[in-house]
Amino acid sequence: MDTSARLTGSHSRQLGQSFVQAWQSAQGEEARQVLYRDIGQQPVPAIDEVWAAAYEAEPEARTAEMQDALVLSDELLDELFAADCYVFAMPMYNLTIPATLKAYIDQVVRRDRTLEFINGRPQGRLKGKKALVITTRKFNYRVGTEAAARNFLEPYLKAIFKIMGIEDVTFIVADQLAAGEAARTLSLLDAKAELLALAAHW
Ligand SMILES: Cc1cc2nc3c(=O)[nH]c(=O)nc-3n(C[C@H](O)[C@H](O)[C@H](O)COP(=O)(O)O)c2cc1C
Repeated sequence: MDTSARLTGSHSRQLGQSFVQAWQSAQGEEARQVLYRDIGQQPVPAIDEVWAAAYEAEPEARTAEMQDALVLSDELLDELFAADCYVFAMPMYNLTIPATLKAYIDQVVRRDRTLEFINGRPQGRLKGKKALVITTRKFNYRVGTEAAARNFLEPYLKAIFKIMGIEDVTFIVADQLAAGEAARTLSLLDAKAELLALAAHW
């Protein structure tokens, strides 16, 4: 899944493409099927009043209008359940994930489909799936830096993926993209090398 608002010069798109190509060539024939979504270019709608009512209602109590509001959500969920693994390529925008990805997450976290309640506690139904998050940013938010406390991207995704049942999450970051040509090139090369190494066994 691509999420960057831009096509031209998008580092996250380039890194994502490099990974998927390398991963596909490392897989056997039968495992090569990739379903691609570009929510940077084709965003899914934000949830609305009818959607929220449908979310709260028991499935058998949903009106026809509520059922219609969930058609896209059901399609997105069918895709998520059909896949074994997910690759998300994303910029950091304003300290966290792009709003388009948040709109997508709101569409796919559903009480009736993504979660099941065991002894009253929610458990994610996407258990056993794994996710790779490739993320680009201008600055450095690494652990130990003063900026680390302002990074709401990795902590948020880890938390929401866990709720969905996805616990195997790998983050590969290209940062310092505004720190000059040399730092940018090195950061992108490092991220690409990490991705190519991961592609061989992921
Ligand atoms: C609206 C917007 C907000 C951004 N916010 C941040 C930010 O909070 N921290 C940061 O380090 N970079 C930020 N950036 C820079 C992008 O993360 C960076 O340019 C990244 O490479 C964009 O991904 P892309 O190259 O795939 O488009 C922001 C860029 C835009 C356009």
